[in-house]
Amino acid sequence: MLQGKTVLLGVCGGIAAYKAAALCSKLAQAGAQVRVIMTKSATEFIAPLTFQTLSRHDVMIDTFDEKDASVVSHIHLADSADVAVVAPATANMIGKMALGLADDMLSTTLLATTAPVFVAPAMNVHMYAHPAVQQNMRTLAERGVRFIEPGTGQLACGYVGKGRLAEPEEIFAEISRFFQQDKPLQGKKVIVTAGGTVERIDPVRYLTNDSSGKMGFAIAEEARRMGAEVVLVSGKATAPVPAGVNYVGVESARDMLQAVLDRFEDADIVIKAAAVADYRPAEQAPQKIKKNEETMTITLVKNQDILQTIGERKTKQFIVGFAAETEKIDEYAMAKLRKKRCDLVVANDVSAEGAGFGVDTNVVRIYDKDGLVEALPMMGKNEVAARLLKLVASRLPDRKGAD
Ligand code: CTP
Repeated sequence: MLQGKTVLLGVCGGIAAYKAAALCSKLAQAGAQVRVIMTKSATEFIAPLTFQTLSRHDVMIDTFDEKDASVVSHIHLADSADVAVVAPATANMIGKMALGLADDMLSTTLLATTAPVFVAPAMNVHMYAHPAVQQNMRTLAERGVRFIEPGTGQLACGYVGKGRLAEPEEIFAEISRFFQQDKPLQGKKVIVTAGGTVERIDPVRYLTNDSSGKMGFAIAEEARRMGAEVVLVSGKATAPVPAGVNYVGVESARDMLQAVLDRFEDADIVIKAAAVADYRPAEQAPQKIKKNEETMTITLVKNQDILQTIGERKTKQFIVGFAAETEKIDEYAMAKLRKKRCDLVVANDVSAEGAGFGVDTNVVRIYDKDGLVEALPMMGKNEVAARLLKLVASRLPDRKGAD
């Protein structure tokens, strides 16, 4: 079932480390290549030889113990993983992951991987409930880490409560489900626009906005995961470019329009999450403007609306627009949907807490021509992306099993 998949199994120092051996065995039996990384503390509980024998691979513990001179182990392991699973994950490892620390082989590899990460915590009930641990888990969840909840019961420390590592069968089932997940956008060509456009005044000055690109990048990443061929057309953005997408960097709204039009005919889905400048300076000075006058006026002219342009030209394409609003969300979002001939509009109140520019979360309302379809609570931008794309997939003319 997991034939050809590489699973990175991180084992931390907790009494539940022994259960990781059963997990390792199940994964290997299902055909996965299991690459085990243990923390030093984990080796106090269980011998590396156990994992080496079960996985038929060297077990990594020390970052500097390079067994193969032709590769850098932590990068090689990080890149080769289709999925990473930390089981058991201690409070310490969860804290390090949340902070982006890399002081051992496991934390370093987890920082270097772009593969989806599952975390199965195991610890004392009070440690699990501690606000610091809870906060760290929230941070990770917002970044897309998937948690496999610990069970409740008798803990090795004597307490009865939440903190017991999920059973190996349960963790194995989660991972199998992940690989079996339907790819509802398989074979679809998706264009995602993201980031803010840059409208030049002169060679060193420009008008732009606060867009970080996070929402659009999360959509591009999720679309890729759902099997789509993704072109990410992005203006200025601070978010890291997701792996596996074709990235096209642009500067101005006019560049973005051209980049989208060049690829529009072949596209099945276009999602316009970019913050496009509505106006640009009428003229762009060829040389740096000198401060000669007491006042200065810049005349702005309207940019062509990219979304409206493709809305008017659409044939088979499914078009999703965004609407950034600060008031009358329903009314303005529906007006944009009609005017720009979108199939869906995703609106957010950019003035609300946990929504809009720069933050990792968003609060959105999704509309179609008949009105509100979904009002999502505050959630991570990658989760918003997943929900949105699932909805898009379910509305494609030749939908493939999406619900
Ligand atoms: N958009 C576009 N081209 C523009 C301006 C906006 O494609 N020149 C797209 C955005 O990418 C977004 C949608 O239109 O998907 C709505 O953008 P928004 O800034 O919310 O609205 P505007 O249409 O610019 O209207 P207003 O600024 O008056 O709210």
